[in-house]
This record gives sequence, C-alpha cells and structure tokens, in this order.
Amino acid sequence: MTLNKNEVSLSWFERATRVIPGGVNSPARSFRAVGGDPPVVMARGFGPYFEDVDGNIYIDYLAAFGPLILGHRHPDVVAQIKGYVDNGTVWGTPATKEIELAETLVKDIRGLDQVRFTSTGTEAVMSAIRLARAFTGRPLVIKFEGAYHGHSDGMLVKAGSGASTVGTQDSWGVPPGVVKDVVSLPYNDLAILEDTLAKIGDQVACVLAEPIVGNMGIVPPRPGYLERMKELTHESGSLLIFDEVITAYRFHYGSAASWLGVIPDLYALGKAIGGGLPQGAYGGRYDVMQYVSPLGGMFQAGTLAGNPLSAVAGLATLDVLRREQPYDRMDRQAGVLADNILQMAREYGHAITINRVGSAFTVFFQENPVYDFTTAQRSDAQVFGKFHRLMLEQGIYLAPSRFEAWFVSAVHSAHDIERTLEACRASFRRLSPS
Ligand SMILES: Cc1ncc(COP(=O)(O)O)c(C=O)c1O
Repeated sequence: MTLNKNEVSLSWFERATRVIPGGVNSPARSFRAVGGDPPVVMARGFGPYFEDVDGNIYIDYLAAFGPLILGHRHPDVVAQIKGYVDNGTVWGTPATKEIELAETLVKDIRGLDQVRFTSTGTEAVMSAIRLARAFTGRPLVIKFEGAYHGHSDGMLVKAGSGASTVGTQDSWGVPPGVVKDVVSLPYNDLAILEDTLAKIGDQVACVLAEPIVGNMGIVPPRPGYLERMKELTHESGSLLIFDEVITAYRFHYGSAASWLGVIPDLYALGKAIGGGLPQGAYGGRYDVMQYVSPLGGMFQAGTLAGNPLSAVAGLATLDVLRREQPYDRMDRQAGVLADNILQMAREYGHAITINRVGSAFTVFFQENPVYDFTTAQRSDAQVFGKFHRLMLEQGIYLAPSRFEAWFVSAVHSAHDIERTLEACRASFRRLSPS
C-alpha cells in the first residue's frame, strides 16, 4: 500500500490553484504546515478509507476534521439521504426532519432545553456569543488561546487549528473594535481565569471553551478545571458556553459536558450532528433561548439552516450511534494505536507525548506534558511534517497539522489499526531522531 502515482492529483491541484486561493477551500486542507507539497485530491471515500484521483487508497484518520464518526458513506446514512431527497432539498418553512433532529438533541444533551440550527459550526458559536451578550447586556468574551471556534471575526483572536497551523492566529481584516471585546487566556490555568474574572467579570458576557480541546491537538481539562470554570463564570454573572462542535457524540452518546458532569448554559454544536452534510446548532437554557428572534430581539437567521437533507443525515448518524454504541470499541482501538505509537517512538529514539481522550488523540513531537497552547506549540513542526509525509506515502491519511487529532471511527477494523502501526514503525525508523 505505497503511493505509486500522483500525476492526476497534481494536475487537478494545479487547476485548483488557478481558481481557488491556495487551491483549497479551507486553509487547514493545505499541506503548507507539513512541508508544502500539493495536497492530495480525493475522488471518493468508503468506510474508513479514501481513494484519490490516481487510485491510491488511504486509511482515513482525518474524518473530515470530525464529522465522520461512522466513516464515509455509512449505508444507513446514505439510504436515508437517498430516500428523502425526492421530497426536496430546502423549503424555507418549518419542516418535519429539523423538528425531529431538534427533539433528538434536546433528549440526548443535558442542559439543552431548546436548540436553533445553523449551517456551520462558525455560525453556531457566533450566534451563541451574540445570545450571551444579549442576555447579559455585557460586551466581553473570554476564550482560550489555541482553541478554534470557527472564523467569525472575534474568534480569530489567538485562534488554534487551521489558523495557528498556517500562522494566522490573528487574522488580517479583524477590526480593532472587535479584538478589544475578546480576551484570550491560557487553557487549564484557573488562577488566571479567577484573576481575570475578579478584575473584569462584571463586563463579561460569556466564558467560551471546548470542554475537551480538539484544536491545539487533543488537550483534556485538568481535574476540577471545568467545574471551577463554571462556578467562577456564574459568580461573575456571565454565561458558560461549551463549544462541542467536535466533542458532542465523539466520546459518548450525547455531549462531552454530560460525560464530564459539567453542564454549560449554552452549547455550540456541529460536525457529527449533520452526518457529513452542513450543520451547526446552538442552544441551551430555556430562559436564555427566549431571547432569540422571533421571541426576543437577538436576531439570527439562515436560508439553509435546518435543511432537511442535513437533518436526515444527522438523524441517521445519531440513530446508528445510539443503537450500536461503538464508543468502547473506538476507545480500545485508539488505545492500541496510541500505546504502540508511544512504545515505537521510544524504541527508535523519538521524544513524543500523546494526549488521548477516547477515540481521539494527538501525537506531539516533544516529550513534555501538553496542557495548553504554549506547550502544544513545542511539538516539532519539521519532524511532524516528515512523519506526515512518510505516513501518507504508506497510505495513511493524517490531518496535515501538528495541532489536529487522529480520529478513530466506528468502522476502522483491527486490520486497519495493524496496517497503521506497521506504517508508523517504518516512519519512525526512517525519521532521524529529533
Ligand atoms: C471546536 C470547533 N468550533 C467551531 C468550528 C467551526 O465549525 P465550521 O467549520 O463548521 O464552521 C470548528 C471547526 O473545526 C471546531 O473545531
């Protein structure tokens, strides 16, 4: 399973660069952070695999940056979409499937009394923040360095994921007026949060966090961190928003908040709840959701929001997850990968740290604990870049950034895991020790 040819991919990508900036529709898809080769152009996905336009097959750990918990083209999801599409694709009216998906989410997710759909996670976070500002009458948002919350203006202040990967943690074009209302703090540091809230808490509309960070690589909260974050937030009269765009339904059936036992006032959701089609949502406490237009004066809207195909794909995905409960198995598979990768790296003299939560983990190419963005940034970009390329050449598709996760899906087989570990061994052997 080595890559044998890539001429067709190169020619497609060359066409892409002429009409799309950088040839990609999201900077995180580019390979600039892993050596600058042209990225691979894909033709199709099936189960845990990708096939590129040259016919090379890859085991996929990207999962489209998160949504594909069931892998590509799960038969139930495809059947539901095909079965529904003859009814239409969008009406601009209330419709049955969005109502059913909303009912499912409200049932599954603790603290989600009402929910409003959007088309993307970006809009979900942006709207939850607007709602928190409307509810509290305060301007400031506290977020955490290296976390990624989509690409709305305010969220591009010290942002992670694709933004930090391509070195635009602070995007051009964000006006100073927006920047001044966003405070970015180091994750996992209660003293700084406490101190900040003591000073400016009466101006803070919300504290916004990923309960388990996915966008500086996987970074779990320290014991007690989220519990105290919630207390401090409420003591200052602000709202706690959890961005669960990645984490909801990833680690167990429902939100990570329920799993961890800390329930926020508002959630932002996305990725898995659209089953691979565009979907976002925000929601939470009933009294807060009454501020949303047309009930209240917090305006937020969307032509394609709650569209039936996304709703149907989301419902089908959640239905499979609820019936099959693949979480223990995914956790075990990821554990086998992470444990063996750590051991192999040691054998071949490479210093790495792995942060793993359930089926998601990040290999940091440095040996010290990673608990915030500063420590995540110590991961060696060059060594990761070489590792990424070696894995790709052996048919293993990893996210092209040292700040992303490997996502194990419900359809990776034991054989896929074995093949991946063989590729890891060969890659570590060929990497010169850092
Ligand atoms: C935690 C988190 N929030 C928000 C977003 C933005 O979602 P979208 O890309 O659907 O706009 C992402 C995307 O990666 C994310 O990981």
